[in-house]
Amino acid sequence: MNEQEIIDAENRLMANVFGKRQIVIAQGKAATLWDINGKEYVDCMGSFGVALLGHCHPRVVAAIREQAEKLISCHGSLYNDQRSEFLQKLVAITPKGLDKAFLSNSGAESVECAIKLARKYTGKPEIIALMGGYHGKTMGALSATWDKKYRAPFQPLVPEFKHVPPDNLERLTAAISDRTAAVLLEPIRGEGGIRVPPDGYLQGVRQLCSEKNVLLILDEVQTSFGRTGKLFGCQNWDVTPDVMTLAKPFAGGLPIGITVAKAEIMSAFKVGEHSTTFSGGPLVCAAGCAAIDALIEENLTEQAAAKGKYFKARLEELQAKHDIVKEVRGLGLMLGMELRYDVFNIIQKCTQNGVLILDAGRNVLRFLPPLVITTQQIDQTIAVLGSVLEEEENERANQSSASAN
Ligand SMILES: Cc1ncc(COP(=O)(O)O)c(C=O)c1O
Repeated sequence: MNEQEIIDAENRLMANVFGKRQIVIAQGKAATLWDINGKEYVDCMGSFGVALLGHCHPRVVAAIREQAEKLISCHGSLYNDQRSEFLQKLVAITPKGLDKAFLSNSGAESVECAIKLARKYTGKPEIIALMGGYHGKTMGALSATWDKKYRAPFQPLVPEFKHVPPDNLERLTAAISDRTAAVLLEPIRGEGGIRVPPDGYLQGVRQLCSEKNVLLILDEVQTSFGRTGKLFGCQNWDVTPDVMTLAKPFAGGLPIGITVAKAEIMSAFKVGEHSTTFSGGPLVCAAGCAAIDALIEENLTEQAAAKGKYFKARLEELQAKHDIVKEVRGLGLMLGMELRYDVFNIIQKCTQNGVLILDAGRNVLRFLPPLVITTQQIDQTIAVLGSVLEEEENERANQSSASAN
């Protein structure tokens, strides 16, 4: 099939739910992707935060290859060597006390599990989430997600979900009632525009939850696995939740969701109360073992901290040069650049020039590159983005002088 035939078939046969770019990606290595015509791209999308190890990490490829010859599926009702090993590697790196997990297949599923767990453990129904928060699009997770455009077409959602303004402990305090099971939030809001909370906020939420006997669920689907320069985003503020949701990078690119909690809390689930057919399959767990080994042994968290500092400083150089840039923010390699205008054209032009960047809302560029991105690739990204910003500014200046004449 040629490029156009591939695009036409996807458009015809797949639900039209993704805002597509008109390129066909065929291959990847580390932080580089190639399209079907052999054109090269610097990947600052990282498969929406999945490809933290880079594409086709050799250890993950070898583990998948080896395991695929032995056993691919194995239901949770049977024990399995890879699942057991993965769980041990996982709880060796999770914050202290979070040592019992449920394995699923996606971020939204990890949130679903956390919501059910909070209700079961506390016997209370209410979940408090943040305005601007994002937790996925299945009905429970969507009930915690804030953006109206995702929620409105699917009412009624799950009852007893409340949203409070972010970074505001007073409003959160006022919202907690004797019906509240849990507070659910992202340590740094990703989809919501790369919003880093002020120091003290997350510690305050932790303290409040402990005082009011309410569970703290941190959604670390986007902020974990070294992304922010710490293994888990919450470690930037020395906060440990009661329940944590994980997903994207934990199986080196294969689908996974993880809900990890204090053992006492996870033990609230009795046999049959929660499950999924694919929970902890051997292929995914073998890839997950290789992914965690690579993360630790290749010091990728430290690399994220150092490269993130460099990348952010280079984005700030662009901010100093271009009036169109309002703010640069983020931690580690989870970075955002807020523009004064819609980012759509800029993303399209960067794509044409070989750099893939994400959005986070209408006017924020979001950078979630693999942690193995090179300095040269960061420089290339800055060079392309710089010239696209300049072109955009010139076009806007020409348009406004034309309309003034
Ligand atoms: C913080 C957060 N939670 C949950 C999700 C949902 O994950 P998934 O798309 O794998 O269902 C995402 C996805 O981007 C996310 O960023």
